[in-house]
Amino acid sequence: MKFNYTLGAALVAALLATACGKKEEVAATPAPAPAAAPAPAKTSVEVLHYWTSGGEAASAAELKKMLEAKGHEWKDFAVAGGGGDNAMTVLKSRAVSGNPPTAAQVKGPAIQEWASEGMLASIDSVAQAEKWDELLPKVVADVMKANGSYVAAPVNVHRVNWMWANPEVLKTAGVTGMPKTWDEFFVAADKIKKSGNVALAHGGQNWQDFTVFESVVLGVGGAEFYDKALVKLDPAAIASPTMTKALNTFRKLKGYTDAASTGRDWNMTTAMVIGGKAGFQFMGDWAKGEFTAAGQKPGEGFLCAAAPGTANAYTFNVDSFIMFKLKDEGAQKAQADLASAILSTEFQEVFNQNKGSIPVRLGHDMSKFDDCAKLSATDFVASAQSGGLVPSIAHGMAVDPAKAGAIQDAVTQFWNDDKLSVADAQKRIAQAATN
Ligand code: GAL
Repeated sequence: MKFNYTLGAALVAALLATACGKKEEVAATPAPAPAAAPAPAKTSVEVLHYWTSGGEAASAAELKKMLEAKGHEWKDFAVAGGGGDNAMTVLKSRAVSGNPPTAAQVKGPAIQEWASEGMLASIDSVAQAEKWDELLPKVVADVMKANGSYVAAPVNVHRVNWMWANPEVLKTAGVTGMPKTWDEFFVAADKIKKSGNVALAHGGQNWQDFTVFESVVLGVGGAEFYDKALVKLDPAAIASPTMTKALNTFRKLKGYTDAASTGRDWNMTTAMVIGGKAGFQFMGDWAKGEFTAAGQKPGEGFLCAAAPGTANAYTFNVDSFIMFKLKDEGAQKAQADLASAILSTEFQEVFNQNKGSIPVRLGHDMSKFDDCAKLSATDFVASAQSGGLVPSIAHGMAVDPAKAGAIQDAVTQFWNDDKLSVADAQKRIAQAATN
């Protein structure tokens, strides 16, 4: 397209004049600000854990949020499988191939085992600066240390010896109140069975069988017997008539479970109680995380009580994160930030409300927690004073992993093989205890 230059020329001149006028202006505007320095690269913090159920995932998300608020990138490495056996297998293969994550969910005596391999970083700098020895119950602080140094950060205190119930299912069956003894439990279970519901929701997996077994031993024998048999692994206690009674009680429970129990995940089993398909479940209070995630409240949608015969006792299970030795300074800083975040009051509050456990910090204000958590906190302190506080063997707090695994196998064989006699089971448990 050709301009009529004259007119066009005048027009062009005018435009230019304006531009020229602007140029003058442009010349006057300040030079653009130098480009902002690129944001420092975020340290990627890879965390291996096995929190994949609804309540667990919601809880892990709180840790992610806290770590990212400290400027780090959370790299999630979740390994499905309640109880954590799968996760530990994966962790071992990663560590052996020289590619450990930044941090991993590892608990109890296994912490010392990892430390003895020389693979763990000390987090004493954070622990001393934040006075963890004053913040934590000694029974917990001791588990987090190797050779006197903190190598793990505790997240919570789970109580394992819980019984959960659906109040509507109990009411329909004419069961009033939570059973306090095993005899009362079987009377209630018979009524629920008669009413057409599943009396006991149980997930048929080795660690779940073991979880129920330890609560039965605690309820039948008491904390002192539990300590002898399942912590000190005293052969006389394992061979005793008390263990015989416990194994008979454990086997009797099977008659109140449903045909679809075998292999069912714990949270799908809790869902049966949530949904009014079953009356009771025996499980640690991570189950409460599922009731909470389903919007249910204690005393309304569900009931909680210590497993029969265990009201004065408490099997504790403390989740914790070990930090692997890493050369990268950014990663070391991130591990310190992760440890500090974990023990912070804010995190302890929001994480444990989601997870179903209680804060591990001594004297934490429980006013915003529900009645089950308040009972757990009261019983934790009372049982620590009475001698009723014992480590959960099923959740890796009592004996080294190899022994716990062998005893778990003997217990789950007994649960699954109705032809295996109680006497044989006692022999197998005793054998496994010398593993
Ligand atoms: C426990 C663990 C809990 C919960 C549960 C079910 O061993 O300590 O945090 O995850 O297994 O997976």
